[in-house]
Amino acid sequence: MKKSIIAAVAICMSLIGCTTKTQESKSLVLYYSQTGTTQAVAEEIGRLTNADIERMDVEEPYSGDFGQTIARCQEETAKGILPTVKPLNVNLDDYDTIFLGYPIWFGTCANPMLALLESVDFSGKKIVPFCTFGSGGLSTSVADIRKKEPNAEVLEGYGVRTARIAHMPKELDYFLKKNGYIAGEVAELPDFTEQKPVTEEEKELFNIACGDYQFPLGTPVTVGSRPIENATEYKYTVDSNGATSTIYVILGNEEGAKPEFTQVVR
Ligand SMILES: Cc1cc2nc3c(=O)[nH]c(=O)nc-3n(C[C@H](O)[C@H](O)[C@H](O)COP(=O)(O)O)c2cc1C
Repeated sequence: MKKSIIAAVAICMSLIGCTTKTQESKSLVLYYSQTGTTQAVAEEIGRLTNADIERMDVEEPYSGDFGQTIARCQEETAKGILPTVKPLNVNLDDYDTIFLGYPIWFGTCANPMLALLESVDFSGKKIVPFCTFGSGGLSTSVADIRKKEPNAEVLEGYGVRTARIAHMPKELDYFLKKNGYIAGEVAELPDFTEQKPVTEEEKELFNIACGDYQFPLGTPVTVGSRPIENATEYKYTVDSNGATSTIYVILGNEEGAKPEFTQVVR
């Protein structure tokens, strides 16, 4: 008699355990990373949200070498092909929110992620894009995901420069709280001041922030600013060979802080 009660309790407990797991497992972090930067963001999202994590790859992985990857992508573009995605180890039906992560390649999602978007139907899912990049590509890649997945709800994304990855945990914590993925209150940021022609001082600030990037980022034309936590954020409109881009720069309030650009929006 006692044994059967214990067995019944054990069955109930395991059932409760299963139910809890299913409820907790509604979010998945699904990402591609070639050299580990996007992986670091994926792991932090997994840690903060408790979501499951799945790293995707392609049947013939990219080598990890920058030059070889560029050459292979150019060849794929010329042939109009994308790599073949390895089968995922997760069932996407189990999840309703997918944090979808990728590096930016050629201004948009890396080829393996483009291939995943071609081969998997995310209809009905909420997609939260996140990406890492040398200079930028969040908004263009999110626009491309929206085009490729018209029946998914593609939400606001998070992006970070490789060179600023140390700032990622704090920024991510803010992003996840602001969008309600984790508990916690965050202050709304004020609007930028009106764009005005740059002064010599603001031009110098821009040049320090962008000067050591491997490619020239253009000439600042106008700027607006706003206070953020312990820093000021600047929004520059920039003339890059006749095209206009927007470049965001942060300057910490502490003595001797060096301005850094956070992203280029083309
Ligand atoms: C083939 C290739 C193309 C890239 N194209 C861009 C680009 O267009 N814009 C950019 O800002 N960064 C570009 N990058 C830099 C990567 O986005 C950046 O290093 C990223 O953090 C790498 O992520 P991972 O370490 O997760 O692979 C490119 C890198 C590679 C390998």
